[in-house]
Amino acid sequence: MGWNSWNFFAGKVTDKDIRDTADLLVSTGMRDAGYVYVNIDDTWEGKRDAQGRIQSNEKFPDMKALADYVHSKGLKLGIYSSPGPQTCARFEGSLGHEQQDAQTYADWGIDYLKYDLCSYGTVMRQQAPNDLAAQNKLMRQAYELMHQAILKTGRPMVYSFCQYGMDAVWEWGPGVGANLWRTTGDISPNFDRMRIIGQGQAGLAKFAGPGHWNDPDMLEVGNGKLTLDENKVHMSLWAILAAPLIAGNNLTQMKPEIAAVLMNKEVVAIDQDPLGKQGDRVYAQGPIEIWAKPLSGGRKAVAIFNFDSYPTDTAGISTHLREMGFGTSASAHDVWAAKDLGKIKDDYSVALPSHGVQLLILGK
Ligand code: GAL
Repeated sequence: MGWNSWNFFAGKVTDKDIRDTADLLVSTGMRDAGYVYVNIDDTWEGKRDAQGRIQSNEKFPDMKALADYVHSKGLKLGIYSSPGPQTCARFEGSLGHEQQDAQTYADWGIDYLKYDLCSYGTVMRQQAPNDLAAQNKLMRQAYELMHQAILKTGRPMVYSFCQYGMDAVWEWGPGVGANLWRTTGDISPNFDRMRIIGQGQAGLAKFAGPGHWNDPDMLEVGNGKLTLDENKVHMSLWAILAAPLIAGNNLTQMKPEIAAVLMNKEVVAIDQDPLGKQGDRVYAQGPIEIWAKPLSGGRKAVAIFNFDSYPTDTAGISTHLREMGFGTSASAHDVWAAKDLGKIKDDYSVALPSHGVQLLILGK
């Protein structure tokens, strides 16, 4: 769990934004809720010096000092690069400098690397024209090269793959060191984009587990025009997916209701449950979908979504308790309402707003 600069600040992020964010992660309680990684995304990179050592640019005058500051707050610092010659925002990438860059990050005190394919896609196509299998092999080798480079530094770093889920990365990513891997192209602060990405995670649960996670991309909670209900849908779905919770909002302007969504203790606990099992879709009928995630203690987190732009109720739609491993009834707790509902049966129904969710914890 943590925060990343891209979704809100994109190319404008500065040293000051990172320090302000570190301060606010502490003062808002987000750090103590679990958001400990502060990740600088693309556009920090400067030129290489005469020895080929990467420099930060004028927006980040002293990376080591920044890392010390972030660490002094009880937080960890993440950085970003690409296996290609250039990053996606056309800054300097790591191609040909992998060991040197990993060592520079270690010297600075970096704890997390997001490694974004970007221009390496062009390298792959140039080196193996019209041969997708050979291109994919080059991609795996590039990710393994940086994996080995990080290991050689001796400094532990979370290794985050960003190649948009190409070549079923969930099958091979963990084998070349991925702690998390993007399963999708970029998210945006738009309900339909978020929904499509979330729904696209169906079937991927078996590939995730402690230390190696599917990453449906960083949170947009609090960004753009997402309504409070939409933010709750986003947060609920990511929690069911055991997704890395990397906030992406501007903490200097965070509204109390957004803080409450990001820091809802029970939702965070669903995401971070010690069983480490990702959830999956149990049932869909048009815009109504039921997703469930196994939790420790024989419980299940169950989200009933209304993806429609109209309010609805779920009368007539079975809650599918048996498919979720319960008998004819289960005890239910409504997470967002913080309310026990007593025993529910398959005929349980709920009224949902447009783009709404009810998130339940079910027990025997
Ligand atoms: C994209 C990546 C985004 C962000 C951006 C920076 O490829 O998916 O999350 O890192 O590059 O340029």
